[in-house]
Amino acid sequence: MSNVKFLFGENIPMEMHKTRMVQKVNLLPVEDRLANMQEAGFNTFLLKSRDIFLDMLTDSGVNAMSKNQYSAMFQADDSYAGSETFYRLESVIKDMFGVEHFLPAHQGRACENIISEVLVKPNTVALMNYHFTTTKAHIMRNGGSVEEIISDKGLQIQSDEPFKGNIDISKLNEAISRHGKENICFVRIEAGTNLVGGQPVSMANMREVSRICRKEGIILVYDASLLSDNLYFIKTKEAEFKDADLKDITREIASLMDVIYFSARKLGAARGGGIITSNDKLFSKMRELIPLFEGFMTYGGMSVTEMEAMAVGLQETLDIDVISQTPIFVEAMCNELIAKGIPVVTPPGGLGCHVDAKQFCDHIPQEQYPAGGLAAALYIASGVRCMERGTLSEQRNADGTEPLADMELIRLAIPKRVYTLSHVKYVADRMTWLFENRHLIGGIKFVEEPKVLRFFLGRLDAIGDWPNQLVKQFRKDYGTSL
Ligand code: F0G
Repeated sequence: MSNVKFLFGENIPMEMHKTRMVQKVNLLPVEDRLANMQEAGFNTFLLKSRDIFLDMLTDSGVNAMSKNQYSAMFQADDSYAGSETFYRLESVIKDMFGVEHFLPAHQGRACENIISEVLVKPNTVALMNYHFTTTKAHIMRNGGSVEEIISDKGLQIQSDEPFKGNIDISKLNEAISRHGKENICFVRIEAGTNLVGGQPVSMANMREVSRICRKEGIILVYDASLLSDNLYFIKTKEAEFKDADLKDITREIASLMDVIYFSARKLGAARGGGIITSNDKLFSKMRELIPLFEGFMTYGGMSVTEMEAMAVGLQETLDIDVISQTPIFVEAMCNELIAKGIPVVTPPGGLGCHVDAKQFCDHIPQEQYPAGGLAAALYIASGVRCMERGTLSEQRNADGTEPLADMELIRLAIPKRVYTLSHVKYVADRMTWLFENRHLIGGIKFVEEPKVLRFFLGRLDAIGDWPNQLVKQFRKDYGTSL
């Protein structure tokens, strides 16, 4: 983000930090990678970290922390109740968001549990730009349902629209009059559509959604887990905010919402979560559930050392040199793949580079999970772990039928400040090889299928002998290379 130009105009993502602590990683031979994938039931969640070269499954809880975060951990005050650490974190959050109340929770889905317990009544509907897996599961567990009202452009793989995460205002108005405002438990904005390419939401859109919700008396919930990328996109793509202070942008967003929650495994680069609100009534209802589900009010299931790291990490979110790192690396990886003709979600968003498995593997029917097959193939070809974000990540309908996902993606997540340009180049090389040999990739089928959030623990198997064929071709093309 800093204004550093290269003589010949190359667009190189520049690290605005130096690395002083490292972790060795393993790159195993392709035959071992195949054996590991078979043992993991063709589910990248079930691989072991020691068998992975570059872990691009997620950025959740695995972002690099700053030395200021590490040093803050030493001042943690480990008291069951009334910890000084809590008050430090609370004051950082109140200042950053300009809100009255903060409730700690052990991670993002814990916040979703509490918010859903309080707000979702049976047969109500939550309107949102797009669902996230755990969000939807908690709403459904409380008898509600989810309706997506994202702009049509948000579901196109390739687009020039800078804010593809925006809510479609006419869909919002139509849904309110169709359901009746009393049947809408809340409207939710996800700051970056996790399942459909990490696409941001503009301030203009949030203002309009907030205005309508306030007029109708509907509660507006903001999932700020991906706020740091969204702040970057508002500042760099929404002209009004070119010179704005990141804290002022954050405070304006907060002023538009009734309830904000976040996974601090993402926002704040630590491990934890929290709910923020200035609504006294909602605050007291949600507060009662914290000791029941999370722990006492001043730690909410988190370790105090993590809370100290979170307090510093949140403050660092207001530094453009910190928050630019993920988007510029995502863009660099997308550009590498686009140059080879590989279909990726554009414009590049936050969180990671998203490859369209529907186009990449257009010979695999969606019922055979092309994104799941591609994710497995990528690990076999490279030791890189990514995440399926497609039909596998959906839940079956009550009648057992399978809803096919809007998008069939693999997500190459870029944990904040963890990987370098050579890693990006390596991924691009192996992805290019896979693209050239895509006819060798096949589908996968469930062997064990859990009912809820099946993608975490489900076990699958390859349909046919394609993994062995892939290994054979790898040896042919790469010789003895790892
Ligand atoms: N909301 C969003 C937008 C998320 O991305 C996540 C987690 C959650 C809520 C839940 O938070 O994991 O702390 O319970 N996303 C992770 C991911 C798991 O890999 O994208 P959590």
